Amino acid sequence: MSVAKEIARRRTFGIVSHPDAGKTTLTEKLLLFGGAIQEAGAVKSNKIKKGATSDFMEIERQRGISVATSVLAFEYEGVKINILDTPGHKDFAEDTFRTLTAVDSVIVVIDVAKGVEEQTEKLVEVCRMRNIPIIVFVNKMDREGKDAFDLLDEIEQKLHLKVAPLSFPIGMGYDFKGIYNMWEHNVNLFSGDSRKNIEETVEIKDLSDKKLDELVGTTSADNLREEIELVSGVYPPFDRELYLQGKQQPVFFGSALNNFGVRELLDCFISIAPAPRPKQSEERLVRPEEKNFSGFVFKIHANMDPKHRDRLAFIKIVSGVFERNTPYLHVRNKKKLKFSSPNAFFAERKEIVDISYPGDIVGLHDTGNFKIGDTLTSGEEIHYKGIPAFSPEHFRYINNADPMKSKQLSKGIDQLMDEGVAQLFTLELNGRQVIGTVGALQYEVIQYRLEHEYGAKCTYEPLSVHKACWVDPENPKSEEFKEFLRVKQRYMAKDKRGQLVFLADSPFTLQMTQQKYPSVKMHYVSEFE
Ligand code: G4P
Repeated sequence: MSVAKEIARRRTFGIVSHPDAGKTTLTEKLLLFGGAIQEAGAVKSNKIKKGATSDFMEIERQRGISVATSVLAFEYEGVKINILDTPGHKDFAEDTFRTLTAVDSVIVVIDVAKGVEEQTEKLVEVCRMRNIPIIVFVNKMDREGKDAFDLLDEIEQKLHLKVAPLSFPIGMGYDFKGIYNMWEHNVNLFSGDSRKNIEETVEIKDLSDKKLDELVGTTSADNLREEIELVSGVYPPFDRELYLQGKQQPVFFGSALNNFGVRELLDCFISIAPAPRPKQSEERLVRPEEKNFSGFVFKIHANMDPKHRDRLAFIKIVSGVFERNTPYLHVRNKKKLKFSSPNAFFAERKEIVDISYPGDIVGLHDTGNFKIGDTLTSGEEIHYKGIPAFSPEHFRYINNADPMKSKQLSKGIDQLMDEGVAQLFTLELNGRQVIGTVGALQYEVIQYRLEHEYGAKCTYEPLSVHKACWVDPENPKSEEFKEFLRVKQRYMAKDKRGQLVFLADSPFTLQMTQQKYPSVKMHYVSEFE
């Protein structure tokens, strides 16, 4: 098959949701359709139920054994599908944000009873900012939930989306009879009694067809006719171009648990979702069909076996083909590296591959060369944009608790930060190290991993910081900037990349500082124009 055909048949996407909306269940059902797994229960949930460290460690341990769960690849109808796993827990939101830099589209799962939840809002905002095409799947239709129109309204209001329903429920909860599929013009009947995933698809070219009355009863049929009329009056017809530009979002209804509405979602997905897209680098726009290889690291996974401290760096291929045993340029290090055993991922296993195409994810064994955001190319100096660090929410000093192990501690901190577990800031004044995280849980995880993987012990000390602001002076030589640096000396730090950061201790301080030094811009994100 030609490279162009290989690219065109790839779909790399992420499923995002608030925990418990049904992401794991849906993933599993998609894999079942692809024949990638034989039975339910094969996909491990990455849920942290109690919010406990032990829970996290257990999940990480399982994933360490089967890292394949980070990427689930399968074939369906001649299409190569790569699902990238995104943690739902809010303390790991940053990991999810980074994974979203490697997807070409997303499916958002919403619980029909709970509607739009907090985590969904945050994640969809990130997708919207990047114009990632989104399909919405409203799940758990077998349960009592919100009225479909109210829910569509809520999705538009809270997520700032423009929806175009491609299916519509017939009844709900106890009365849920099935779904009218506007994409394929048919009715799918739900056999709720047996709950055994038996479904029947009946083609209904025209809603006035009397067959509909026979199938769902006259009342439901009439209701549906009215509702569909309303849908076509209120919502615009589906427009693929708008969807691809991130300006319109098709919506499907179903029940992942009952495997209902999932095939319809998948069939539509493979025909409308984008193949790998061009990506902007600092230097230029890079197209998948270019001959030369390029890709970037969006995730680093530690091997949880303390005896082997090697890691797996996940690379999204942007252009060209990636071949085994071929030297590639590590742009940041300016070093050529060769990989003898790049891994490709399938639902339940990983395999060594000789060749991978744009859209694919390869896992490279790494002994500490890679950081998140690194670019690998055939030789060109390209730097991919779009893996920024966000200001953490929590800040603490980290101290060495075992003076004999200071080397181990610094190596451990270094590597954990490269993996993106948390962010390190080093104070300019005294060199003290501050760890910033999205959630409090990470501190325990870091402490645990430092001890078990690096043999180092640490303690934390509270530090009152409101936000980390990346500093962007209009003129680095100006008197104003020099004064800012002098006056705010105690609050200045460098991040891991050596960028200057102001640790503002309160919203008030931040506001005052901005007023006093208007030519010194502050950003909550490490990448800015
Ligand atoms: P997540 O990955 O988004 O966190 O959600 P997950 O798939 O784990 O689903 C969360 C809970 O919702 C699970 O129940 C799951 O069985 C249930 N669920 C998923 N889809 C549907 C659906 O279409 N209808 C109904 N009624 N329930 C659904 P649980 O009791 O928390 O977990 P489990 O013990 O059943 O695994």
